[in-house]
Amino acid sequence: MCEAHISLNAPEFSLEFREEFAALLRWRRDVRHFKTDAVDPSLLDDLLRQAMLAPSVGFCQPWRWVKVNDAGRRAAIVENFTAANLAAGARYEGEKAEQYWRLKLAGLVEAPVHLAVFADLDPAEGGGLGRQTMPETSRWSVVMAIHGLWLAAQAVGLGLGWVSILDASAVQTTLDVPGDWTLIAYLCMGWPAEPSDLPLLEREGWQERVAGAGLILER
Ligand SMILES: Cc1cc2nc3c(=O)[nH]c(=O)nc-3n(C[C@H](O)[C@H](O)[C@H](O)COP(=O)(O)O)c2cc1C
Repeated sequence: MCEAHISLNAPEFSLEFREEFAALLRWRRDVRHFKTDAVDPSLLDDLLRQAMLAPSVGFCQPWRWVKVNDAGRRAAIVENFTAANLAAGARYEGEKAEQYWRLKLAGLVEAPVHLAVFADLDPAEGGGLGRQTMPETSRWSVVMAIHGLWLAAQAVGLGLGWVSILDASAVQTTLDVPGDWTLIAYLCMGWPAEPSDLPLLEREGWQERVAGAGLILER
C-alpha cells in the first residue's frame, strides 16, 4: 500500500461546486458544429491526463489514444464516414429518411482535433483481474475514460463529438495501429459554434429525452 498518498485532507465539494457539476452534466453536448480555431496541444494533453483518471477493470487502463494529425489520414476518415453514412441513411424511408439526411452527424471537416480511441483488449496491466467472466469490461473502461474526457472538455468550453458511423476495421488500417487494439470511438474536438443545453437530435425532432416510469425499476 502506498501510505504517502493516504490523506485525511481529501477535498470536500461545496454546494456551489455540486450545482456547477450538475450544470456541467446538463450542458455536456455531442458537438458536430465547430469553429475552426485551434486547440492548444497542452490543453489537450491536460484533458487526456484527466480522462485517464477513469476507473478501469482490474486497473488495467486499456485506453489507447491516437491523435490523428496527418491530413491524408484525416481525409481517409472523412471518406470512410461519407460511405458509412450513405449506407446507414439508405436504411430509412419516407419522412424519417428526409429527416436523416438533414442531420449533421459528424464535424470531421471543421474540427481542429481528431482523436481515435482504442481499447487494448488484453493488456498486461491488471493481471486479468475482473475480466475473466466479462471480457467486454476492458471496452467499457475505455468508455468511462471518454466520458471523463467529454466532461473535462466541456468544463473548459470545448466541444466533443463522437463519430461511430465508420467502418472500424478500415479506421484500424488507416491509422496503422496494433491488431489487438479495437476501435471504441472516433472523436472530434473543438470550440462549439452553437452551444446548447439540448441534444441536437432533440432540437431536430429526431428523438426526445426519455423520462418517467420504466427507466428505473425496483425489485
Ligand atoms: C457510443 C456513441 C456513439 C455515437 N455516435 C454518433 C455519431 O456517429 N454521430 C453523431 O452525430 N452522434 C453520435 N453520438 C452522439 C449521440 O447522438 C448523442 O450523444 C445523443 O444524441 C444525445 O445528445 P447529447 O450527447 O448532446 O446529450 C454518439 C454517442 C455515443 C455515446
